Amino acid sequence: MREAIRFVEVGPRDGLQNLAAPVSTALKARLCEKLFAAGVCRLECASFVSPAHVPQMADAEALLAAISPPDGAELDALAPNARGALRAVATRADRISVFVAATQSFAQRNTRCSIEQCLERAGEVRKIASGAGRQTRGYVSCIADCPYEGLVPTRAVMHVARALIHAGFDEIALGDTIGSTSPADMRRLLRALKQEIPVARLAVHCHDTYGMAAASTLAAIEEGVRIVDGAVAGLGGCPFAPGAAGNAASEDLVFMLEGLGFDTGIDCLALAETGRWLTRELGLSNASRTGPALLARPITARPAEF
Ligand code: HMG
Ligand code: MG
Repeated sequence: MREAIRFVEVGPRDGLQNLAAPVSTALKARLCEKLFAAGVCRLECASFVSPAHVPQMADAEALLAAISPPDGAELDALAPNARGALRAVATRADRISVFVAATQSFAQRNTRCSIEQCLERAGEVRKIASGAGRQTRGYVSCIADCPYEGLVPTRAVMHVARALIHAGFDEIALGDTIGSTSPADMRRLLRALKQEIPVARLAVHCHDTYGMAAASTLAAIEEGVRIVDGAVAGLGGCPFAPGAAGNAASEDLVFMLEGLGFDTGIDCLALAETGRWLTRELGLSNASRTGPALLARPITARPAEF
């Protein structure tokens, strides 16, 4: 039996949050349906943040009400504060995620508070979410680089990750917000984190600005991480991280992971078709390499003895 990877598709949230033109709730819901039909079983679909700061996510409640995940599939959503958490637990969201930067400058730009204030808010979110029976994820943003402060020391990432674990978060996601992590950086960081946090509770979330997202994700897999984020068609980016590219494309990651012998549960061709559909609908270019290649020349898995 193949070892499973828990693949977290963040396209409807990270993939869309930074688009200037509003995307309708109906189109977002159609995207979610297509992703579930492709086999995605964990989908980060919305953010309960301030609509004044991120207008694209203003329809979080309406979207969650419009989606019917198949049995066993989970819906994740972000919440930056108690207000967001209360909105989220009034919906069917299965997991509520906070995001805390490893640098003060990014914390201020993204959440308009210090790291310590952000951790305090995260603690409130965790209590509300767990009290309502929901799972929790704590993102650490800027694990390698900050758009305002440059290189981020490992101890700064460790400080936030440790605080989130102590606050009771079920899972810690390492966010390479700027997309500059190298596989060597990822390996070094994970070896330090694994001294304190069980690797089963760690996830990776790489943006692809420098083309290293799949390589850094692979380094994380080699270090034992089994929860991996990607966004269909490689869309995405944080509105407060200028110059950063989209997420690792889900098509590329799924193709890589299945090729390594892992079971993602996802049909890569169906994912590729979803990426093509979405980018055509939105008039965007497709940042996945695997998706268009697979659609032009579908190839099947190589037999083990080949
Ligand atoms: P603030 O302006 O300091 O907050 O924003 P405030 O408490 O002063 O509230 C200002 C207004 O927002 C008030 O409304 C509040 O009610 C409202 P007004 O009285 O002016 O009409 N408000 C809310 N409304 C709805 N839902 C809420 C909420 N909270 C306040 N939850 C705040 C602070 C954190 C809210 C704001 O800065 C914010 O929403 N930031 C969101 C930033 C964001 O979404 N960034 C992108 C996601 S993070 C990311 O992409 C990185 C990640 O992918 C990992 C990686 O790549 O590294 C996760
Ligand atoms: Mg992100």
